[in-house]
Amino acid sequence: MYRTKNCGELRISDVGQQVTLSGWIQKSRDLGGLTFTDVRDRYGITQLVFNMDENQVLCEKARKLGREFVIQASGIVRERSSKNASRPTGDIEIEVTELNILNESKVPPFTIEDETDGGDDIRMNYRYLDLRRNPVQQNIIFRSKLALETRKYLDSQGFIEVETPFLIKSTPEGARDFVVPSRLNPGQFYALPQSPQTFKQILMVAGLDKYFQIVKCFRDEDLRADRQPEFTQIDCEMSFVHIEDILNTFEGLTKHLFKNTLGTDLPDFPRMSYDEALQKYGSDKPDLRFGMPFYELNDKAKGKDFSIFDQAELIVGFVAEGIAESYSNSNMKELTEWVQRPQIGAKGLVYVKWMEDDTIKSTIGKFYDDDTLKSWISAMGGKKGDVVFILSGETDRTRKQLSELRLEMGRRLNLIQPGDFKPLWVIDFPLLEWDEDSQRFHAMHHPFTSPKKEDIPRMLNGDHETMKSLRADAYDLVINGAEIGGGSIRIHDRALQSKNFDLLGFSKEEAEYQFGFLMGAFEYGAPPHGGIAFGFDRLCAVMNGQSSIRDFIAFPKNNQGRDMMIDAPSLIHEHQLAECRIALVKDLDKK
Ligand code: AMO
Repeated sequence: MYRTKNCGELRISDVGQQVTLSGWIQKSRDLGGLTFTDVRDRYGITQLVFNMDENQVLCEKARKLGREFVIQASGIVRERSSKNASRPTGDIEIEVTELNILNESKVPPFTIEDETDGGDDIRMNYRYLDLRRNPVQQNIIFRSKLALETRKYLDSQGFIEVETPFLIKSTPEGARDFVVPSRLNPGQFYALPQSPQTFKQILMVAGLDKYFQIVKCFRDEDLRADRQPEFTQIDCEMSFVHIEDILNTFEGLTKHLFKNTLGTDLPDFPRMSYDEALQKYGSDKPDLRFGMPFYELNDKAKGKDFSIFDQAELIVGFVAEGIAESYSNSNMKELTEWVQRPQIGAKGLVYVKWMEDDTIKSTIGKFYDDDTLKSWISAMGGKKGDVVFILSGETDRTRKQLSELRLEMGRRLNLIQPGDFKPLWVIDFPLLEWDEDSQRFHAMHHPFTSPKKEDIPRMLNGDHETMKSLRADAYDLVINGAEIGGGSIRIHDRALQSKNFDLLGFSKEEAEYQFGFLMGAFEYGAPPHGGIAFGFDRLCAVMNGQSSIRDFIAFPKNNQGRDMMIDAPSLIHEHQLAECRIALVKDLDKK
């Protein structure tokens, strides 16, 4: 037997037991007569002690152990003379009587401890070593538990797990496809699914009623901390449902997951319309862990000869409580420069400080008297001692910029409590989004999303402007400012689906070529249906208070979409290209 116990389970009550442990050498301390060695496995760390007086040969052997050697050690559990309260096994040590070196290790390129000295690149290169570190292992273990709890809950609700194919035709979710050449069908390509969207709808036509899948999705898009080119969804679809049924089921799933992994009871989730979210927080994924809602000042601020405000489409601000005295001129200057950075792109920042001595200090003091500015602060819910930050300009851009400033102030003022979770449903999204550059509509969620029932007549008969105002039966789950999930009630009628493709600029032939199979299926008794998908990696990260999803994925890609460990993507041999007729396609392009 390699081991009778693991490295995390021995306690004071085990003193006197004969045990065998196996694991990796974390570190050794040679104190002359005694050598102390920490051995580590997934379960914890246990101290081994080798006594020169009692067994010189063994002790010499122990002194030669390097970091990350794999060993097997047998001995007796003893109470430690100096205990280590920060470690669950810290009351005991093993007095070793037998030591086997199972494998040696080169000196690792970074320390394998909770706080490592390894930079991002080197840790990605040696991911197997990074994965030995406890915090990363805990993330992966958390992920496993979350998947298990997801299956338990959805099973209890009557869902069945169905696998859908990876080699498919394009499913538009707004990103580019990864494509795979087909050797057997020269010059033709599969696309990897951006999501199983069309298949899950087909499963509803097939009468499966409640489907789920914990599934890989592939999207060729620019990467960020919360985006990977391959990521995982908890993907679901239900038949004979209205929005309410879906929101209740998946609010239930979210509560179950929080309760059964973190022990956290979530209250009922508030709901907010897309319009309200943008108006109040400048974002369709507002972080509700702190306040600072927006207040629009157009009525109050225009017509007072301040040309910047007079020309602005929107003048909007929020109150930051209690910082009028502590935020100095240089703080304000620095904050102004912060909003002027290209990433934010504001032209300037207007502030109004209501000082404790009842005076006003403001960048717009020349245009508005103190009483007017105080009345603004009061109307915005502020008081003496507070500061109001104001931005102005084109509506969408200004809201976005102020939203960034609000989040930054939330961070700077430490308004976010660790372990606080604020979920909400954002509902009533627009159906279509007009894109100025391409001069066409895009689906705000995806092309299979149903307009609200009451908007269908307007969709069928309305003009261009009407299309901009159509609302969809679509919803997002947002937690702490992160979009965790999105879904919709689907169109299940061929004619309406055709009309939607038409509005989205698909010709009849294109729509038929890409989605004929789905519209065909709709002609054979498609039930009303709808669904949702949660970003599984994002859910893991947000539940652990982190913004990057990378450390919840065993083998993630870096920001260039590369797997550093296996060095992919990579070149392939000419003969492989030839087999897939890629060369042929290249030649066709040249003609
Ligand atoms: P959507 O495109 O909104 O919807 O995706 C659902 C959720 O998946 C997560 N997500 C990502 N996570 C990591 N990396 C990415 N690149 C990435 N892209 C998306 C987000 C997002 O909320 N088929 C629809 C769902 C439906 O309508 O039922 C869909 O895929 O958390």
